[in-house]
Amino acid sequence: MQAISGYSKLSKEEKLEWLARQVSHEPEAFIAEMKSYWHNDHSVQKLFDEFSENTLTNFYMPFGIVPNVLLNGELYAVPMVIEESSVVAAAAQSAKFWLTRGGFKAQVLGTKKIGQVHFLWEGDFLKLDVLFEDLKEKMLDNTALITKNMRQRGGGILDIELVNMTHIEPHYYQFKATFETCDSMGANFINTCLEEFARTFKQWAAVQEGFTEKERNPLIIMSILSNYTPECLVKAWVECPVAELGSFEGMDAEMFAFKFQKAITIAKNDVYRATTHNKGIFNGIDAVALATGNDFRAVEACGHVYAARDGKYRSLTDCTVENGIFRFWITVPLALGTVGGLTSLHPIVRRSFEILGYPNAQKLMQITAAIGLAQNFAAVKSLVTTGIQKGHMKMHLLNILRHFGATEEETKAAIEHFKHHVVSFSAVRDLLDKWREAAEIKRNHDTDSTATV
Ligand code: MEV
Repeated sequence: MQAISGYSKLSKEEKLEWLARQVSHEPEAFIAEMKSYWHNDHSVQKLFDEFSENTLTNFYMPFGIVPNVLLNGELYAVPMVIEESSVVAAAAQSAKFWLTRGGFKAQVLGTKKIGQVHFLWEGDFLKLDVLFEDLKEKMLDNTALITKNMRQRGGGILDIELVNMTHIEPHYYQFKATFETCDSMGANFINTCLEEFARTFKQWAAVQEGFTEKERNPLIIMSILSNYTPECLVKAWVECPVAELGSFEGMDAEMFAFKFQKAITIAKNDVYRATTHNKGIFNGIDAVALATGNDFRAVEACGHVYAARDGKYRSLTDCTVENGIFRFWITVPLALGTVGGLTSLHPIVRRSFEILGYPNAQKLMQITAAIGLAQNFAAVKSLVTTGIQKGHMKMHLLNILRHFGATEEETKAAIEHFKHHVVSFSAVRDLLDKWREAAEIKRNHDTDSTATV
């Protein structure tokens, strides 16, 4: 592989051509395959190309729905984009299970977002502290135009604090601002405001008469939103009498509730289990975030930090079994948007919102949390009853069959066979080998018989 300068300036065709010649023994086939995933409507393709840079083609991911999600008394079909087999099936199974047991309930506990200006200031903190209200007023005045629309929608800058961080680093302070960004995720809005705060601070400090030369020259390190939004929080829950849980593959409801609750306690206290447990939750949350054009990296980063908020990484879900009632809930920060960003640009994201009945950001937070909870319920249910592999490998069977180039006929027969056998990579390989050997022997035999005749 050679280095290249000016790659971004090449046309898409040239970019592909260059790469193919660098990496492939069959550049023409490489290019043809990459191009085969281009959208046939040029304007749609242009839209996808422009979501990112150096775009060569489109990367397909399955888009599916989870029907039967009863949430706060309303029924939803929830779109999910995910490549891992069994995730959508698991959520769908959970949704159906809770559909007849009161469904999911959810409540938004807060919608505040955070941004920070980090700066060094060599001076007397008290001087700055005393004058901070004046500075804050200027910051609000200077961002008035930026925040006008957001204020009209009921949002804007909620507060700006001056935080002394000199215990971390000499002369280090922050302006820590809280924002309400209504239905938008708000990253651009917050960052624009923060950069204006920084500019205002520099200008304001420069003309403060009581300040020393150094105090008139703060050093702005950076201005950026925080993806940690513990006050942009939603809770989703399910509950029913233990007896109504029913039985699970021969396990009665009491034993199921007991084992389920223990599994959650383990995930609350053991970091190895907590990580896998929360990963399963994010199987659901990320898939909805992706389908709705939200930043799943931000959502995950925040969720994992929240899971460790008391200094130890723990399960995001909780469970109690008390007085014959099974209760299971999730509390998770979800900074999601339903306007701005990809939400109005990506044609399938627009369809996702149509499928969801055009929710606002708070409703989307509730839906997403419910899917995270549904996912976790399905995973833990499998783990404490049949084991995860039974369902997981059944769903994975098609991928394994495809890996071994199974024909349609072999696929049908294998699906039938594995209804009664444990699926594994080697079991599928051995079965196909056995069938193919038998078919080969039969073919040879038939040829021999024909020759004899
Ligand atoms: C697999 O993607 C997710 C699970 O491992 C989650 C869990 O163990 O709770 C099944």
